[in-house]
Amino acid sequence: MSASHAGPLVDRFARSIEYLRVSVTDRCNFRCTYCMSEHPTFLPKQEVLSLDEIDRIASAFVGLGVKRIRLTGGEPLTRRGIVSLVASLSRHLGRGLEEVTMTTNGSLLSDMAEDLAAAGLSRVNVSLDTLDEAMFARVSRIGKLSDVLAGLYAARRAGLAVRLNTVVQAGVNDRAIDDLIAFAHGRGMGLALIEAMPTPGVSRDRPPGVPLSEIRADLQKRWTLTDAPERAFGPARYVRVEETGGRLGFITPMSKGFCDACNRVRLTCDGRLVLCLGRREQVDLKTVLRGQPDDEAALQAAIAAAMGAKPRRHAFDHAERIPLDRGMWSTGG
Ligand code: 5AD
Ligand code: SF4
Repeated sequence: MSASHAGPLVDRFARSIEYLRVSVTDRCNFRCTYCMSEHPTFLPKQEVLSLDEIDRIASAFVGLGVKRIRLTGGEPLTRRGIVSLVASLSRHLGRGLEEVTMTTNGSLLSDMAEDLAAAGLSRVNVSLDTLDEAMFARVSRIGKLSDVLAGLYAARRAGLAVRLNTVVQAGVNDRAIDDLIAFAHGRGMGLALIEAMPTPGVSRDRPPGVPLSEIRADLQKRWTLTDAPERAFGPARYVRVEETGGRLGFITPMSKGFCDACNRVRLTCDGRLVLCLGRREQVDLKTVLRGQPDDEAALQAAIAAAMGAKPRRHAFDHAERIPLDRGMWSTGG
């Protein structure tokens, strides 16, 4: 570790940044309607960070006190060499880094879960919006529910902790949350409900999102929801569903003040450090890295300086402020 080992990273609003989300590719084998258009343009390969470059940047963050790294996409499992990246990052486990996790659409997990677990991955968040095959095909445009279910079971067999992520949309799944709770909790998996965020390039005619306060009020007619005490994991709020003993999360970027507990920054697959999902502020780390490839101190200095640009809160209510080249598929949600 370099002598400049400083950390932890703290922004202007006294928030400690201990969590790095890394988009390893903007490509995906699905085309979810709330995430991307039907015919997205992806970045040319030479603009995307190599796995070695990702490793260097992520390692610099660990040197600065980052405790958790989550690999996202696009679909991270479509990136060749992803298992080696997990293995390589895992060398920091127990030396500052507490966990390496992944957010995936689950479709490729059935073949990869075991290798990922062996490489050091501890948890996966799997996007699953519906258990209805036809609806699943409609939302993901080209995905197959059965592939994802096979992936989920493989992940559990491999010993990975699993949380399902469900983007709640009117007419898609807002009446089917009970089924998702029963499905997830019956199989030892957590569930998090997410409010759909505006993202550039997605068609205006996608179904409207639903405020999760409405969903929660409805769920409380049938389930006993007990607030979990701590908010250690950032902006999500968790409850315990007494009837199942399982965990249910509410991720409410649209309806609730949400940003005070922000503990994260994001690295895009082309090396931009995004300081807030719903704002423009970003710092080009790829240029720093490619300009001075062997200077970890320069990289750490650029990262530390970037914290000064982290905004207090997102601006999703002014969606035009989100840059057009930075949809969910390149920042990883
Ligand atoms: N709003 C909310 N969540 C989204 N995701 C992708 N696009 C959006 C959006 N517009 C979610 C995916 C995945 C996570 C990475 O982000 O469902 O679970
Ligand atoms: Fe792919 Fe995830 Fe976007 Fe769906 S939400 S298109 S699975 S990156």
